[in-house]
Amino acid sequence: MASSGKGLEGVVAAETAVSDIDGQKGLLYYVGYDIHELAANATFEEVVYLLHHLELPTHAQLDSLREELSAGREPDELVMRLLPDLSENAPPMSMLRSAVSLSSVQDPDAGDMSPEANYRKAVRLMAVFPTLVAYYDRTRKGKELVQPDPSLSHAANFLWMLTGEKPDDDTERIFDLCLVLHADHTMNASTFAARVCAATLSDIHSAMTAAIAALKGPLHGGANEAVMAMLQEIGEPNKARDYIVNKLNNKEKVMGFGHRVYKTEDPRATHLRRTAEQLAEKSGDPTFYESSREIEKAVMDEKGIYPNVDFYAASVYGYLGIPTDLFTSIFACSRVSGWTAHVREQYADNRLIRPDHAYVGPEPRSWTPISER
Ligand code: SDX
Repeated sequence: MASSGKGLEGVVAAETAVSDIDGQKGLLYYVGYDIHELAANATFEEVVYLLHHLELPTHAQLDSLREELSAGREPDELVMRLLPDLSENAPPMSMLRSAVSLSSVQDPDAGDMSPEANYRKAVRLMAVFPTLVAYYDRTRKGKELVQPDPSLSHAANFLWMLTGEKPDDDTERIFDLCLVLHADHTMNASTFAARVCAATLSDIHSAMTAAIAALKGPLHGGANEAVMAMLQEIGEPNKARDYIVNKLNNKEKVMGFGHRVYKTEDPRATHLRRTAEQLAEKSGDPTFYESSREIEKAVMDEKGIYPNVDFYAASVYGYLGIPTDLFTSIFACSRVSGWTAHVREQYADNRLIRPDHAYVGPEPRSWTPISER
């Protein structure tokens, strides 16, 4: 019998050149570039190129990627037909999971598993995620759809399609930073789910559907929405400590804290904390930020646990005026870049992912007829 590693802790599930983490030192690298350097310098489009080509793009390479992304932003006709129903009936992550699955049907490369076709599909997926989220939100609010604007960056275009207003430079840069910080993170649950699916040689849309499904849960990407719910429940910063102590006494998890790999501060949280502070000052209402600081201190005092990427992302998105139930789908709009890079990497050197198990059931026994049970 194999020994049990609950939650596959410490198990190396795949070799990857896409990203790396040093959990003891709190370091994160995309293809060898420190996240702090990328946060200071890179645009999301440069990160997309880096994750997929393992090198930074030249001007010309970046321009063609931007063109490819612009060309792929419009959802296909089948998805557009179902979007009103999904907007009315499905929460955002369920809409995204279903719409992405559906978009496999009319993809021009459906059925083509060549590396070239998979790259084209990956770019179209990265392009269409933000449109799905923005169109969904506008449809459910009864607002007219805002068409993608090819002159805008990926970040600015999303905010434009969501709000109908062109963001100012600061807002664009902040949202772009959020996309950069969420783009990839080694063998997290959703990436692993995508790779497991791809390793059966299933198609990239199926792998993305699996990844969205895994990201949705509150122990993974769903935590950012739960953090905002907690901030709203706490209300005032001076109520944060009692709230946390009470939660921990009840053996409940504090959302946005803890990590399987980081034993120190998640380097992405450092940037998001700073950004939340700037936005708090600018907004004139520091409640989210101040409550977050109090929560952070209380969790550190009580449990010695650090915030993860989802904790300050909640305040940042809140200050940007993004509806809370879209937070996790925004995480997906960024992470689709990493997911697709990992899936392409998996296809390039594939072997079925099929772990072993530790059996804990009864010893072999004989069938009992139903009349004797
Ligand atoms: C993401 O892996 C990735 O890369 C993910 C991610 C990415 O970029 O893709 O970084 C994004 O998903 C961030 C995580 C979002 N989830 C949450 O914020 C939910 C709250 N956090 C947790 O439940 C937890 O910390 C996990 C799920 C993130 C990690 O779980 P592990 O590694 O299985 O850790 P564990 O639950 O076994 O906890 C170990 C100890 C326990 O204490 P003891 O029983 O040993 O005394 O730490 C405690 C836990 O109780 N603990 C917490 C806690 N997180 C860990 N206690 C209270 N609140 C928490 N948040």
